[in-house]
Amino acid sequence: MSKTVLTAVAWPYANGPRHIGHVSGFGVPSDIFSRYHRMMGDRVLMVSGTDEHGTPILVQADAEGVTARELADRYNRVIVDDLVGLGVSYDLFTRTTTRNHYAIAQEVFAGLYRNGYVVPRLTTGAISPSTGRTLPDRYIEGTCPICGYDSARGDQCDNCGNQLDAADLIDPRSRVNGETPEFVETEHFFLDLPALASALADWLKSRSDWRPNVLRFSLNLVDDLRPRAVTRDIDWGVPVPLEGWSDRNDKKLYVWFDAVIGYLSASVEWAVRSGDPEAWREWWTNPDAESAYFMGKDNITFHAQIWPALLLGYRGLGDKGGEAGPLGELQLPSEVVSSEYLTMSGSKFSTSRGTVIYVRDFLRDFGPDALRYFIAVAGPENQDADFTWEEFVRRTNFELANEWGNLVNRSVSMAHKNFGEIPTPGALTDVDQALLDAAAAAFDTVGDHLARSRFKQAVAEAMRVVTLANRYLSDMEPWKLKQDRERQATVLHTALQIVADANTLLTPFLPHAAQRVFETLGGTGVWAAQPEVREVRDDLPADPIGVGVPEMGVSYPVITGDYTAEQAVWRRTEIVAGTPLVKPTPLFAKLDPSLAETGPEWAPIVREEAPA
Ligand code: MF3
Ligand code: ZN
Repeated sequence: MSKTVLTAVAWPYANGPRHIGHVSGFGVPSDIFSRYHRMMGDRVLMVSGTDEHGTPILVQADAEGVTARELADRYNRVIVDDLVGLGVSYDLFTRTTTRNHYAIAQEVFAGLYRNGYVVPRLTTGAISPSTGRTLPDRYIEGTCPICGYDSARGDQCDNCGNQLDAADLIDPRSRVNGETPEFVETEHFFLDLPALASALADWLKSRSDWRPNVLRFSLNLVDDLRPRAVTRDIDWGVPVPLEGWSDRNDKKLYVWFDAVIGYLSASVEWAVRSGDPEAWREWWTNPDAESAYFMGKDNITFHAQIWPALLLGYRGLGDKGGEAGPLGELQLPSEVVSSEYLTMSGSKFSTSRGTVIYVRDFLRDFGPDALRYFIAVAGPENQDADFTWEEFVRRTNFELANEWGNLVNRSVSMAHKNFGEIPTPGALTDVDQALLDAAAAAFDTVGDHLARSRFKQAVAEAMRVVTLANRYLSDMEPWKLKQDRERQATVLHTALQIVADANTLLTPFLPHAAQRVFETLGGTGVWAAQPEVREVRDDLPADPIGVGVPEMGVSYPVITGDYTAEQAVWRRTEIVAGTPLVKPTPLFAKLDPSLAETGPEWAPIVREEAPA
């Protein structure tokens, strides 16, 4: 039975190019997951986009001396190029500064408000004593009350990742002139989490199949739910869609509030752009649809608690009752898949610390599949993982090139040289049959791991088939079978069938290489489809209200693709005897071992000086 699967991938902030840490935890894994499901014949909708509001954007815009919109426009394009280069097969990768996104974020807010789950409350806001004006969050910094980091921002600590309130900072100061802000009473909207706590807890308790780290963390959170502000003192964001609020420029929806709604708005945008404006409902209001959310561990709260709470409240399922608005009975996440961090020799990948390996540089020098492979086998799936050039060279040279590339190369070369085509096999021996059976069985084993987001185990099982096939060739020595052509044909036919099987098993991980192997075996057309960048206009029927909503008609790039046209399916595709073969070229270039010692010019290995 084919499934309906929403793959929801965390939205990167449009505040800089992507480094490999950004794409390791969830970018590549979510693509492996989606590609597998498409190969299974499931109806996949994979959405994401750039997250363009909030202080992360404003702070960087200040640093670059441009407006928030200019900054977002710049990095939205850069990030689109990074992700398309990696072959991440989004159905739609969009952005949060579209009219459609504003309108849907406003509708979700309004629905929560109608049902009583979003309520105004007096709280403390900062003002500048010297000007008497509101001091927006981004202009306040101080010491983090949780980890002690001395330049935490007014809304969030970049060191420990916790969300903060400016009023909780120790020694708060204005980044404009260093003065100590004065805190006064001001009004904000709060999400009434206590009224949603029991609905949330019931739902979480039914999620027994989640990764244990996510489940434990989420259940702990529910014990101590307090109302949370969903608006901020900021002039860049989605206007609060209420009388008396929508026309103020100093208070907007909190960036996290609008960002998680992006999954929904992107699905709507996808539907409208694909010509069936209601098609998104199949993934969102259909209780049989599955949804898997991919993110780094610092995002768990927002996906396992805040986002489900918004959905429950919108549907009227909390203690205060209520009813669903026009968007309908929106479904909660079925899977929240969180990853740990990719580090480079110990420190969390961070642009501010200088140890940065940009995706763009990486792709230019090494191509997408070597990185995708590294992430799958050695990425931060369940614990922090360290990226080292040494490990990258080892994985690429010994596993991709020597094991997989070599298997393809020698099987096809020998068949080409001796037969010029895929040979016709004679009777199979037990050894031949055992190998064919092992490869056939791998579709279930690997598939089961993939469906449960166990990427490391999945790729290891797929590579085991490659190892078995290499051993088979070494044992059978088909190059010595010149006198027994029938046996030689049988062995090579068997080897080529395993190449085809292993290629299918590796397609979600190595889609670019998979296309080449497919062609090497005589296939034509698209085996593994790739995403593309398309320029679109912000001209959907959407009516966001308030000041500062995006203009109509702006042009922007989206990532999308026609994935239904691909031929890859998750089962054995029988090779056809008689298919002409040409001499293959190496699948993976071997890396110069010195790279392990020095790193590339653009990310050299810096050796710590020995202590004196
Ligand atoms: N931009 C956030 C981050 O980088 C992630 C947002 S995920 C979303 O941490 F769901 F909220 F969009
Ligand atoms: Zn902190």
